[in-house]
Amino acid sequence: MSTRKVFLVGDGRVGSTFANDLLQNVKIDELIISDVVKKVPEGDALDLEDLAPFVGQCKIRAGEYADAKDADIAVITAGAARKPGETRLDLVDKNVKILKSIIPPIVESGFKGIFVVSANPVDILTTLTQKLSGFPKNRVIGTGTSLDTARLRVALSHKTGINVNQIDAYVLGEHGDTSFENFDEALIAHKPIKSYEELNQATLDELETEVRQKGGKIIANKGATFYGVAMCLTQIVKAIFENQSRVMALSAPMEGEYGINNLYLGNPCVINANGIADVIELHLSDEEKAKMKYSAQKMQEVLNGINL
Ligand code: LAC
Repeated sequence: MSTRKVFLVGDGRVGSTFANDLLQNVKIDELIISDVVKKVPEGDALDLEDLAPFVGQCKIRAGEYADAKDADIAVITAGAARKPGETRLDLVDKNVKILKSIIPPIVESGFKGIFVVSANPVDILTTLTQKLSGFPKNRVIGTGTSLDTARLRVALSHKTGINVNQIDAYVLGEHGDTSFENFDEALIAHKPIKSYEELNQATLDELETEVRQKGGKIIANKGATFYGVAMCLTQIVKAIFENQSRVMALSAPMEGEYGINNLYLGNPCVINANGIADVIELHLSDEEKAKMKYSAQKMQEVLNGINL
């Protein structure tokens, strides 16, 4: 019988919330948690094992990179988090350095699974995880605009009163300041978003800004964001283990879509046991295509400045 094993790197607020969500939402057999601060995963393993009578059994322990050897999925949340007023791109130097200390030893362990990255700037760090690991692109995934898309759907649901799961709209591009919405094709309850009276252009523009700034607002209020992104990670891991072929907006490996190559950027993907089974190229309007290209250009500029 095959076992399901997850290796988690980074036991801060995102990592520990993810571990908790994971145990409650996905049947797994083993969870290994590693962090530079050794005591924290030791404490978290003890704390989390007490969920067993309520959520089912799972072996949980603190571990080292060598323990990734036979894991199915390695989740990377480690990195400096944004402080109030910082952008995700402000984290790039610190977090690339951290990433370079994580990916090579995981690969050296013999790990043959799927990398899932949420540390920021996520599109950049996902692109670099693929480069550092040399893994096939379908086996390296970033949370991308999954969280932004959730935020957009929540906001549209608030405005229209329509259930959040009947809203087919995406945030695309960078998980960051150049993200944008696909309002030209988006549907709510099967009707074009623009046919809703309460959603005139001014309201949509406002909503787009609100969604883009929501992470910053949460950080300004409580110092960090973690529930949303932790649930995105959980749903990605669930889709892989359950071979769901579910569509989620992720950091997608672009290979010619919208004329973009060699980088990961937020776009809907089909996700299943193979990781990213497909990148869905949407029929974007010309204006939206230009926004996608602009976002890619900004990511490429950052990537060009990084010496791996
Ligand atoms: C946010 C962080 C995860 O947007 O980037 O909440």
